[in-house]
Amino acid sequence: MKGLILSGGRGTRLRPITYTSAKQLVPVANKPILYYGIEALAACGIREIGIVVGDTHQEIRDAVGDGSRFGVRVTYLQQEAPLGLAHAVLISEAFMAGEPFVMYLGDNLVREPLRPMVDRFTTDHPSAQIFLAHVPNAQEFGVAELAGDRVVRLIEKPKRPPSDLALVGVYMFDRTVFQAVKAITPSARGELEITDAIQWLIDQGHTVRPYVISGWWKDTGKLEDMLEANRIVLDGLERRVEGDIERSEIVGKVIVEPGAKIVESTVRGPAVIGKNAVIEQSYIGPFTSIGDGVVVRQSEVEHSIVLEGSSITQVSRLESSLIGRNVSIYRSDAKPKSYKLVIGDRSDVGLI
Ligand code: DAU
Repeated sequence: MKGLILSGGRGTRLRPITYTSAKQLVPVANKPILYYGIEALAACGIREIGIVVGDTHQEIRDAVGDGSRFGVRVTYLQQEAPLGLAHAVLISEAFMAGEPFVMYLGDNLVREPLRPMVDRFTTDHPSAQIFLAHVPNAQEFGVAELAGDRVVRLIEKPKRPPSDLALVGVYMFDRTVFQAVKAITPSARGELEITDAIQWLIDQGHTVRPYVISGWWKDTGKLEDMLEANRIVLDGLERRVEGDIERSEIVGKVIVEPGAKIVESTVRGPAVIGKNAVIEQSYIGPFTSIGDGVVVRQSEVEHSIVLEGSSITQVSRLESSLIGRNVSIYRSDAKPKSYKLVIGDRSDVGLI
């Protein structure tokens, strides 16, 4: 069994962060989302992983390397443009060399252990095994219509969903899927859809096994989903305080990484404070991830993700925010008294 992680595409819904960075590398609890996928595949014994990359390939290669850190061997599969999930499968054919594989969408977080699902797939060997979850907003996903335990129909982002069962970003395929991705044509949005490829398998009489997961799963394409993923992952962490704490209160599930310094502050977990971060005379509230080297002075931050190298100074309260790398937010006393902003395209700033 091999692995295929899709880490190309464009993160349009997380702009402006994704103008300069791959969406799969935005961290959740200070760890890039992509790492969770690699770890999940490694945990079910997969050793050979192909990572599909696009424009942001260099950044992904720098972050993941040869995979040895995760106990796997990574091969990068360059996709010339984001032509669809089924197109990503198409370009992986030589790498798979006839072996069955688990496909994992690099911006998804699936907390349910994959091993039992992989075992079931290898025992029963259907052509494909798909994972479904009940969601309140099915129109934003691929949606499955079932008849008993059979998949009858799959539709990509339907206006009127036939069920509330969304396709989760994990799929298992045998080599038949390559016939399917070659047989289908691009959808109205110009992509080779994996839903169409799976529908082709169904229509040709191949077995497509559905598996409704009960565990937690998130597609982190949007800010709210990202913050929710951060919240849930932080909540599952164990307290570990390794940095330097002076005259401060560290409450609950908090990780303070080595080299971090917390002075005259309160950190209320679940929260993580990255390596060499400095928190001074500040309050870090629940569900906050403070990245490596971030400086927070005389400020309050809660329910937010702050990426590495940024600084927040004298800001009375920041909430539900995603702050990119090397950003400075500070109170200025310069006259005239006004907001002075240097903000990239498609930023989102809520002032009070
Ligand atoms: O998250 C689950 C959903 O993922 C499913 O319910 C949908 O059926 C499926 O189409 C997919 O929908 P998205 O619109 O969320 O897919 P997205 O474009 O975000 O791509 C998912 C991952 O695959 C992401 O890490 C980028 C990568 N990708 C995407 C495309 C289109 C590629 O590597 N190459 C591509 O050509």
